[in-house]
Amino acid sequence: MKNDNLSKPIDHENRTQAVHEMFCAIAPRYDFLNRLLSLGIDRGWRRTLSRMALRKDTESILDVACGTGDVSLGLRQKASQARIVGLDFSQAMLDLAQIKINRAQADIKLVAASAEELPFPDADFDLLTIAFGIRNVIDKKKALAEFYRVLEPHGRLAVLEFSQPRVAWFRVLYELYFFKLLPLVGGLFAQRSAYRYLPESVAKFPSCDEFSGWLKEAGFRQCRYHSLTFGIATLYLAEKLD
Ligand SMILES: C[S@@+](CC[C@H](N)C(=O)[O-])C[C@H]1O[C@@H](n2cnc3c(N)ncnc32)[C@H](O)[C@@H]1O
Repeated sequence: MKNDNLSKPIDHENRTQAVHEMFCAIAPRYDFLNRLLSLGIDRGWRRTLSRMALRKDTESILDVACGTGDVSLGLRQKASQARIVGLDFSQAMLDLAQIKINRAQADIKLVAASAEELPFPDADFDLLTIAFGIRNVIDKKKALAEFYRVLEPHGRLAVLEFSQPRVAWFRVLYELYFFKLLPLVGGLFAQRSAYRYLPESVAKFPSCDEFSGWLKEAGFRQCRYHSLTFGIATLYLAEKLD
């Protein structure tokens, strides 16, 4: 008989390992494919994240699932005095981030760790960002609890993630692109499975209202979200109040 208590951690470990391997494998092509497949729109989304997440007095920022470092570097430009830490569990992604950080002579510390177990004390940051990362984390609620823990009271969380457009005519175009064209083009340059995984993981991600509910469950307040580019992406903002 299947013992759920035993199979759960093994399943979690296997799925985490599969996501980890996939990101390590696509790392060398990640930036190129991002620009190509999003037609450059992803840059604007990350700029919106920095603009809306930063406050004048932001002093310490953790960029979770930083990948090749685009969000961390964007934040560096806007918050020149802040301490910035980028975290990712893929060393291949972090190595590429380090090259870009060195090139920009930017002061950003990189840490290899899991979003589900952040190696920082409580209340260590006043802003936590995660762009296109939470969808890939296997235990999302555990990660949200960790985000809450490492934020200081009045700290802010900013989550940028793909979402599904609600307008019917645009959704048809989007599904055609996301489910048909994207795996095809992605497959020309990288593992095709990685670009099949992308639309599948977006489809499985909770709706904007449901995800906002998860943020509230984790303790966050003033949860709000902004649809970007017809709802292809969504920026969630939330505060830790106590
Ligand atoms: C789609 S990339 C996004 C990278 C970057 N934030 C950006 O905007 O381009 C997702 C990143 O999440 C990282 N990741 C996925 N699951 C993770 C986890 N559980 N802990 C830490 N990083 C994770 C992957 O290694 C990958 O670099």
